[in-house]
Amino acid sequence: MTTTKPDVSPTAAGSGANASEAARASAARHGQAASSQERLSTVAHDVIDAVNAVIREHKITYPEFQTAKRWLMEVGENGEWPLFLDVFVEHVVEEVAAESQQGTVGSIEGPYYLPDQQHFPPVTTLPMRDDEPGTLLVLAGQVRDLAGAPLPNAEVDIWQNAADGFYSGFAPHLPEGLLRGVVTVDEDGRFEITTILPAPYQIPTDGPTGKLIKTAGWHAWRPAHLHLMVRAEGFRQITTQLYFAGGEYLDGDVASAVKDDLVLDPKPGPDGRLRVDYDFVLERA
Ligand code: DHB
Ligand code: FE
Repeated sequence: MTTTKPDVSPTAAGSGANASEAARASAARHGQAASSQERLSTVAHDVIDAVNAVIREHKITYPEFQTAKRWLMEVGENGEWPLFLDVFVEHVVEEVAAESQQGTVGSIEGPYYLPDQQHFPPVTTLPMRDDEPGTLLVLAGQVRDLAGAPLPNAEVDIWQNAADGFYSGFAPHLPEGLLRGVVTVDEDGRFEITTILPAPYQIPTDGPTGKLIKTAGWHAWRPAHLHLMVRAEGFRQITTQLYFAGGEYLDGDVASAVKDDLVLDPKPGPDGRLRVDYDFVLERA
């Protein structure tokens, strides 16, 4: 791959529009919620009641209500609902889902997954530019079932940001497919993926979500992370993230998606490259 020079700088609106498209595809993949009218009515009422309770508690004024209305409209107009919801809400949906799950712990999917990426053999290097900035990292491991048997038909679907913090497919200066791939494991369930260390990620600062974070005096950062979906026929797919010990923002992730079990500590291997082993355990579907 060759480097394409940034001609357009990535904007919140740009990544928001792509994230909205990706969110529609993701919603379709997850399927329609089997919801009764009763459940919809109960949950919708509780959401409205919760908002109304905040208005009463904080004695929200008319100007504040109008400001909030305008801000909510802007989030929609910028296509930032996927970003906003994945940062502030998805971690609780994941927490609830995790109550009934065994095996490797999950974490949020986030807004930047793209399906149908290039497939790779068990030992592989993710698509990179000739002069890809960053530190090389080897992620190696095995996919097994709860009893410890290897799953030779598993796939490790991996995506991450480049050293400048941006994700391919959501920033015009990055080549399509960069640092994304679907890796098939070998007959012993093993894989060895060469990539680069991901970078801490900052929520786009120029859109309405960024404006809220800045105006409220919060910070907009997620710690560096790899995203993974691991799947095998007949097993529950896991969606998770891997983090790096000692990295910035591990303790203050804006998306509240860090779990201790998911923090890795890569060490230089015999060839000098950073290497870390991590195995995935899937439960039967
Ligand atoms: C967001 C971005 C991420 O890379 C992620 O993992 C989770 C959330 C976001 O911008 O909403
Ligand atoms: Fe991410």
